[in-house]
Amino acid sequence: MRRFAFSLLLISFLIEAGFSRLNNLNTVENYMNICMLGMHHKSSPSPEKGLTSKICSPWAARSCCTEETALDIHTDPTWLNFDWNHCGSLSPSCREYFIMDSCFYSCSPNVGPWLVEDVRKIRKERFKDVPLCKPECDNWYDACKDDLTCINKCPQGSTCKKFSEIYENSSSLFCEKVFGSFKVVDDVDNCFHLWFDAKYPNPNEAVARRRASEILNVKYEHVEGAKLTDHNKAVSSCSVWELGWMLSMLLLVAVL
Ligand SMILES: *[C@@H]1O[C@H](CO)[C@@H](O)[C@H](O)[C@H]1NC(C)=O
Repeated sequence: MRRFAFSLLLISFLIEAGFSRLNNLNTVENYMNICMLGMHHKSSPSPEKGLTSKICSPWAARSCCTEETALDIHTDPTWLNFDWNHCGSLSPSCREYFIMDSCFYSCSPNVGPWLVEDVRKIRKERFKDVPLCKPECDNWYDACKDDLTCINKCPQGSTCKKFSEIYENSSSLFCEKVFGSFKVVDDVDNCFHLWFDAKYPNPNEAVARRRASEILNVKYEHVEGAKLTDHNKAVSSCSVWELGWMLSMLLLVAVL
């Protein structure tokens, strides 16, 4: 009986892997209308009028985060268990960059083409190798290089070191390794901005659209940011993927 249940469990996990919603993205619009499957993310991007002034403002027109999440990012120093002040306070300019990064992580509606599966309590997907503009990375690094860190929680007995020391004076190493989400690129016409003035259209939109076209092997078509539809074209988040999970959990309960 146990063996049977275990086999079923295995099969349902395999089915789930095969039916990952990321394998079902088959139009550019699918890629453009998806948010990371995470605890603090919406299911698809939509306007958030509350994201004004400093509160994750670039993403007001189309956002994967709610206003509430944006507020938490700005006010909670241990948001998502990342303690900013684990080696004494971060300098204000460095902290500001980490806030921008958190806003990007939670709110950017353009990471669809770089989503991969993940298995953590806070998220079932993450983005990987998003092309970050080198000048933005350099600024982030310059703001933080003399700040102290031991990367999140300091293990007992470990010492705090400067970011520059840990990342060997390399801005690219810093941006790529600090959270493992970015790939620093020189091509200034085809890279992401961590932040931009909300007066202007989202510059990352075209980069994501180009990448989605590349993945699907279709011709890239430029679309003005304003013309992007907000109605829900996203792949439903209650997908076969979740069904698979539910089945697995039910079976797990049955086995135990
Ligand atoms: C980084 O720069 C500092 C100061 O210029 C220097 O002492 C150190 O050796 C450099 N480290 C590496 C890994 O290049």
